[in-house]
Amino acid sequence: MAESRTIGVFGAGWVGLVTGGCFAELGHEVIVRDVVPERIDALSTGRLPFHEPELPEVLARNRERIRYTLDAYEVAGADVLFICVQTPPTYSGDADLSFVWTALDDLPRVEQRQILVMKSTVPVGTGEKVRAALEARGLTNVGYVSNPEFLAEGTAVRDFMNPDRIVIGSFAEEDAALVEALYSGIETPIVRTDVASAEMIKLAANAFLSTRISFINEIANVCELVGADVESVAQGVGLDHRLGPHFFRAGVGWGGSCFGKDVSALKQLAGNSGYHFQLLAAVIEVNELQKRRVISKLEKHLGRLRGKTIAVLGLAFKPNTDDLRDAPSLVIASRLLAEGALVRTWDPVADARDRLRGATQCATVFEAVTGADAAVIVTEWDELRGLASKEVHDAMARPLIIDGRNLLDPGETRRAGFAYDSIGRPSSPFEGLPETAEQETKVSS
Ligand code: UGA
Repeated sequence: MAESRTIGVFGAGWVGLVTGGCFAELGHEVIVRDVVPERIDALSTGRLPFHEPELPEVLARNRERIRYTLDAYEVAGADVLFICVQTPPTYSGDADLSFVWTALDDLPRVEQRQILVMKSTVPVGTGEKVRAALEARGLTNVGYVSNPEFLAEGTAVRDFMNPDRIVIGSFAEEDAALVEALYSGIETPIVRTDVASAEMIKLAANAFLSTRISFINEIANVCELVGADVESVAQGVGLDHRLGPHFFRAGVGWGGSCFGKDVSALKQLAGNSGYHFQLLAAVIEVNELQKRRVISKLEKHLGRLRGKTIAVLGLAFKPNTDDLRDAPSLVIASRLLAEGALVRTWDPVADARDRLRGATQCATVFEAVTGADAAVIVTEWDELRGLASKEVHDAMARPLIIDGRNLLDPGETRRAGFAYDSIGRPSSPFEGLPETAEQETKVSS
């Protein structure tokens, strides 16, 4: 059990709340500070502003140990201050650190030693800049540690409590020791390093995960051309212990608030330092093209998409989250709308109505597929595993499924009477699905 400390958390977003909740679970006192009054009000009455499994239970269970506040002075008594604010990309692809600097401006001036811990993902070199800024303000009793997060949305609580490693980069040994002690009770390798290396570990990890996905997506695209099956290929390659099976699922490309931002930030960081990171440029481009491949698959089966009704199934960038940031669904649906298709969307939790004006968001899968010329699986929600049913088959104008996540079994889906195409697997022979009479009328009107 960890020696109980008082921990201040700047930022009541997804990282801040998971961090605060899990440290409370480990026995620490936690004060979460945010600048948005509605957010603090909601949290104080037990309402969570986003969907994250297990987090509501963790926050409720540790209610006695967590306080929410707008007032930065309430964290004055904390031993450790975690910065968990967002670092969105700027137009140039660099990370925008303005929220980090604002949090620093708000730091209460205190007598005792405090340690500032950076959880937000920041460019390499930020720690040095923060240290200089602290010194310039005379805050010489504030230590600095980089302790990046490796939490994935949908499994964040589990990832925090059972991490593959904890990375602690510091300027002073005693600061690293204190931060390490906060995690007592969690069994995992600890990587103690300098601040710049800790910052780079975070960026390199996300960049490599994205690279793996772009790599397997390109393999999938070649598989389609040469008649191989990417699922078997990924299994056969991934069993090599030097390569491993993870992050090797081909699909419509990666999305979310982290990969795009961090890959671009690392590429930009390299560029700003005089190095052209060619591999990452390709990783990004492959991903952009991958999202659009669904469109050409639809055209292959349906011809022109103008006037066709397409059900886009799954909007969140991955299952078990309502996060739409950088979601492939938005690109796919927007392209379909631009082609003149009628787009009907469905997601069990994500709401894209204000981002996809012109599309109809449906409450059920059945409603979305009724009368559709094709159904496209974009997010692998469990609810879609049973999509190839007789009920769906009979409700669709044409029984065509484009599976952007290789969720369904090709044989079973075809036996259920569907034309079926997926990513990197042999597709149904082109069946030239005929225009229905109803469809002809729609197109010509
Ligand atoms: C990612 C990392 O996995 C976390 O370790 C990291 O802490 C986090 O970013 C962050 O920087 O905060 P996250 O974005 O929540 O987590 O989601 P992932 O599970 O990594 O998925 C990212 C995208 O890749 C999703 O769109 C997913 O569908 C896609 N993906 C993932 C694939 O297309 N294929 C795969 O094999 C795996």
